[in-house]
Amino acid sequence: MPKLKFVSTWFVLLLVGLPWSVAQPPQCDPTKVIGPMRCAACHENEVRTWLQTPHAKTLEDLHRRPEANAIAAKMGLRSIKRGDVCLDCHYTSQTVSEKVQIIAGVSCESCHGAALDWVTLHNDYGGPTVLKNQETAAHKEQRRETSIAHGMRNPSNVYLIARSCLQCHSVPNEKLVNVGGHGAGTLKFEMVSWSQGINRHNFLRTGNTTNAENAPEALRVMFVAGLIADLEFSTRAVGKATERGTYGLTVAKRAADVAVRLKSIQDQIQDPHLEQALRSFSQAVLKTNNEAELNRIADEIQQAGTSFAQSADGNRLAVLDTLIPGKSEYK
Ligand code: HEC
Ligand code: HEC
Ligand code: HEC
Ligand code: HEC
Repeated sequence: MPKLKFVSTWFVLLLVGLPWSVAQPPQCDPTKVIGPMRCAACHENEVRTWLQTPHAKTLEDLHRRPEANAIAAKMGLRSIKRGDVCLDCHYTSQTVSEKVQIIAGVSCESCHGAALDWVTLHNDYGGPTVLKNQETAAHKEQRRETSIAHGMRNPSNVYLIARSCLQCHSVPNEKLVNVGGHGAGTLKFEMVSWSQGINRHNFLRTGNTTNAENAPEALRVMFVAGLIADLEFSTRAVGKATERGTYGLTVAKRAADVAVRLKSIQDQIQDPHLEQALRSFSQAVLKTNNEAELNRIADEIQQAGTSFAQSADGNRLAVLDTLIPGKSEYK
């Protein structure tokens, strides 16, 4: 195997930095959030399942935890629910009468995208009189594409959802980590084990009767898509690094590690999109104050990951089964 440039370059993070970069853009636009209770009108089981997860419970739990208040104090925040720092990843906010308010923890739209522009499109089978079983395959495909074009992270392409997870679970906030003492990302994150336990809510495909498990073919695609999304967001996270410290070193090592894992997967599956993602990443210089360049590379990885999830045939990825966590490891 040729020596890969990215294995060594993360040590470049020894360079001196500029001041903190500015606040992150919001996860989902509060002016376009409609809130989980609107989804409940048609997705009652999904909402009931979600309410049992740490994502929902963080709304009531977070500000009661001493370690959370310690982080907020170091960040100079008067309160966890005020200011925008914790809002990015622990809460869903909505603009009500021109004021941004917290309405939930991590909720439906944190993962599926703020819904105002897509909610009436994603379930439209072709007009008010057309029933689900009358919809043509071509219309279904077009409906999904339209919903995605209007901001939906539709699980028909699992990369879109994996991006949501990693956007938060990579914790791309240098000050929060280096000053606040927050964890520098969920280093053990893995898409299958983290989405198929408490978080699973596949009622739709069974007509609302049971919470369906995925077939092995789907899990294989999800597994690889999760790692590519990890590579994309670890690369973006390095772009936020402005100084040598826990944050920069942790996210750079994460990016390098996930690239090595993907390289060994690529040796087994020979996928053209994964090849593209790795080729893009091999140009990345993991040093401080390199945001524009790293975002450009991450954009290329994003494209490759989206195409991978769209075209991959899980039947041809069986060689990966020994790498994919089993049920006993599901969160
Ligand atoms: C008026 C009823 C209604 C509301 C409100 C609604 N949905 Fe749906 N949703 C549906 C129906 C019906 C489907 C099934 C579409 C199909 O058959 O593919 C669906 C499908 C979905 C899917 C799967 C999409 C796919 O193509 O496989 C997701 C994800 C989803 N909804 C999320 C949400 C979220 C999140 C909300 C709230 C922001 C929401 N929905 C609000 C009725 C609704
Ligand atoms: C960029 C995303 C992001 C931001 C911003 C963020 N968090 Fe977190 N936080 C997370 C994630 C993801 C986890 C889950 C960590 C894990 O799985 O290890 C988490 C977990 C935590 C935990 C629990 C740690 C544990 O070990 O259980 C605390 C406490 C916490 N955050 C406090 C805060 C506070 C306070 C703020 C605001 C000052 C904040 N977080 C802002 C993403 C974020
Ligand atoms: C908007 C930010 C955000 C998104 C999107 C997000 N998470 Fe999380 N996740 C968090 C935070 C914050 C916590 C910690 C909550 C707490 O402990 O208070 C967490 C906790 C979890 C936990 C519980 C961890 C434990 O140790 O018990 C799992 C599992 C998880 N997330 C999986 C996922 C998966 C899978 C996705 C995508 C399908 C996802 N998350 C998307 C922010 C997010
Ligand atoms: C932590 C991220 C996350 C949150 C929060 C979340 N979802 Fe999902 N959702 C996913 C993922 C990932 C999938 C695909 C899961 C799979 O294939 O196993 C999915 C799939 C779906 C589906 C399609 C299920 C099927 O049978 O094919 C619907 C419908 C849905 N979600 C609705 C919702 C609603 C409504 C909420 C809020 C109550 C919600 N989701 C909250 C990540 C999330």
